Amino acid sequence: MYGNYDGLSRLPVFDLHLGVNFWRTMNITTADKPQLAEIIAVVPDESVQVCLVDTGSGTPFISALDLRPVRDTLYPQANATQALVLVDRTNFGLSGAALVRYPEDPYDRVWIAWSEIDSNEWTEISTPEKVKELSDPRFNAPSAVMQTAITPRNGSRSASSRTIELSWDAAPNHAYPDPGVIGIVYFAELEAVAAARQFEMAINGKLWSKAPFTPQHLVCDAFFNSEAHRGFGGHYNITLNATANSTLLPTINAAEFFSVVSTANVATDAKDVAAMAAIKAKYDVKKNWAGDPCAPKTLVWEGLNCSYAISMPPRITRLNMSFGGLNGGIPSHFTNLKAIKYLDLSYNNFTGPIPNALSELPFLVVLDLTGNQLNGSIPSGLMKRMQDGSLTLRNGKNPNLCSNGTSCEPTKKKSKSMLAVYIAVPILAVVVIGGLAVLLLIMRKKQGSRKGSVKPQNEAGGVHSQSRNGDTHSLLQLDNRRFTYKDLQVMTNNFKTVLGRGGFGSVYDGFLADGTQVAVKLRSESSSQGVREFLTEAHTLTKIHHKNLVSMVGYCKDGEHMALVYEHMSEGNLEDKLRGKDSDSRSLTWRQRLRIAMESAQGLEYLHVACSPAFVHRDVKTSNILLNVNLEAKVADFGLLKAFNQDGDTHVSTARLVRGSPAAHREK
Ligand SMILES: *[C@@H]1O[C@H](CO)[C@@H](O)[C@H](O)[C@H]1NC(C)=O
Ligand SMILES: *[C@@H]1O[C@H](CO)[C@@H](O)[C@H](O)[C@H]1NC(C)=O
Ligand SMILES: *[C@@H]1O[C@H](CO)[C@@H](O)[C@H](O)[C@H]1NC(C)=O
Ligand SMILES: *[C@@H]1O[C@H](CO)[C@@H](O)[C@H](O)[C@H]1NC(C)=O
Repeated sequence: MYGNYDGLSRLPVFDLHLGVNFWRTMNITTADKPQLAEIIAVVPDESVQVCLVDTGSGTPFISALDLRPVRDTLYPQANATQALVLVDRTNFGLSGAALVRYPEDPYDRVWIAWSEIDSNEWTEISTPEKVKELSDPRFNAPSAVMQTAITPRNGSRSASSRTIELSWDAAPNHAYPDPGVIGIVYFAELEAVAAARQFEMAINGKLWSKAPFTPQHLVCDAFFNSEAHRGFGGHYNITLNATANSTLLPTINAAEFFSVVSTANVATDAKDVAAMAAIKAKYDVKKNWAGDPCAPKTLVWEGLNCSYAISMPPRITRLNMSFGGLNGGIPSHFTNLKAIKYLDLSYNNFTGPIPNALSELPFLVVLDLTGNQLNGSIPSGLMKRMQDGSLTLRNGKNPNLCSNGTSCEPTKKKSKSMLAVYIAVPILAVVVIGGLAVLLLIMRKKQGSRKGSVKPQNEAGGVHSQSRNGDTHSLLQLDNRRFTYKDLQVMTNNFKTVLGRGGFGSVYDGFLADGTQVAVKLRSESSSQGVREFLTEAHTLTKIHHKNLVSMVGYCKDGEHMALVYEHMSEGNLEDKLRGKDSDSRSLTWRQRLRIAMESAQGLEYLHVACSPAFVHRDVKTSNILLNVNLEAKVADFGLLKAFNQDGDTHVSTARLVRGSPAAHREK
């Protein structure tokens, strides 16, 4: 009810949509009477939107909205592609103001008493007895409605012509200039026990019923059309004519009259809708983003483009949120727009890293992140997409973003100086252990005692003393994850499953919190691999990445506990495979052996040639070549890895470089 709520005394006209489909035009013709719109529709999704569309004839308004579920079988004319818009639902024979609705009508349909009752023309008939429901599950009117009816008054014009004539106006609108209509009329015989009443029905002068109709005594019966009537511009009349044989005049208890609307337009892909709804809610978007994002086509949300395919849900292909004042991290909602081609988030205040998940948008062609406060580096996935030419990334005017993947953040500068400390220490340790430079040892001792915080024997005992100031730790944290001993206990279920044992200690099966399977190599007290080797390996692995070198997931240096956490290599080592240690395993084919040899060589070649400085592994043997689930080879165990001078000096002194481990060692 308008009620002149805005003081403008301007009765508005606006449109209603149910979801993405036109429902009706609301022509508010009086300010002081409520006007109702009702639609019976099959809703395909979990939710449905009702949209009030401003058509330039006043501001739309709504006073109340009710949603009623009805039995599936009711109103079969309402289906996936067609809905019924109520024109009138009339209860004949109930004069006075009373409505019949819930609880008399279990679906809370509102049956309005016929207002044109003219006592000169019509007689109201009623019964106190209950009218039985129709056995037909498609239609039913409540007994309270069926217990009253009208019939022409004796001596009236209708009585002399033995006719009831009723008219309806399904107002045409811009969407449906000639609305199709569905009529449902309800009858029950309230007076005569015997079949004395018989009439024919016509709609707009055309015979509607094939045979004359006789209502049953106190049983609800319905007459309806399945296909919508068309061709009369929405103006319809129904006549009920008593046949010559009928001893009583026609009667009618109730009627419903609907116009039909198409609901064939499909809503935008539900996942796209959910993503847009989340974005809209998160940023409290001020744009007129209402209803479905893509449909109807004339009401697409501002800043969106969509693709439309026949009988497929529209998809969002372009989103422009440039200059939107958006802040915080780039939320995952954007990565849920799986059909997007152009994503423009430029000139906002986004902070934090660029989510790598954006690279997984299969159709993304242009990603514009210009003019934000993003930091970190460009994730590898996006890098790859840029390199293979499938994506254009615009990331200018992000002062804290590293675009070349290296030096940029102030914290990284700090790490460089730590690197110097870190590298210096193992070299010193080598010298000390080699027992060659007593002088240096003394110097270090002096330095240590001068500081007064680090005991000399700790210096001699290993590099780990350096960890007391945390530098070595933070260095390793840069590229990898550092775990506490407690983390390892959780990861390995308290070191439950041993995968293997080596000079360094045991290797345990483990799982990260995200379910990734890993191998945890825990240094034992009696390890032949010293702290130096441990740190060499940890350090080297953080820097070296190759598909044929085992990659490190993280490490642990927690008090005396040291461990390396590797990717899990489900097929174990090559030595066991060749020897057939595992009786279940099938022996390797010639082709597999060749491939393993080649892949191992590629891993070593990378160490020898591609790394700077170059490295020699110094302990290449079948037990240090691990195989993953696809039998791909990866070289492992870098404890003896050593950098060598690469100034074109190929005549490296083998005396200094050869190390290796005795064959028997591992079998102890
Ligand atoms: C609204 O109703 C009034 C009165 O019936 C009519 O004059 C007017 O044309 C209608 N407007 C629209 C847009 O249907
Ligand atoms: C009923 O409709 C028919 C066909 O449109 C028309 O000829 C007839 O005059 C109408 N009757 C009334 C009472 O409006
Ligand atoms: C009317 O009654 C006569 C005689 O009983 C019958 O032959 C005729 O078919 C009836 N007409 C209708 C329309 O039922
Ligand atoms: C994106 O939106 C901004 C702000 O509304 C506008 O200035 C810009 O022209 C739009 N870009 C495109 C390609 O439509």
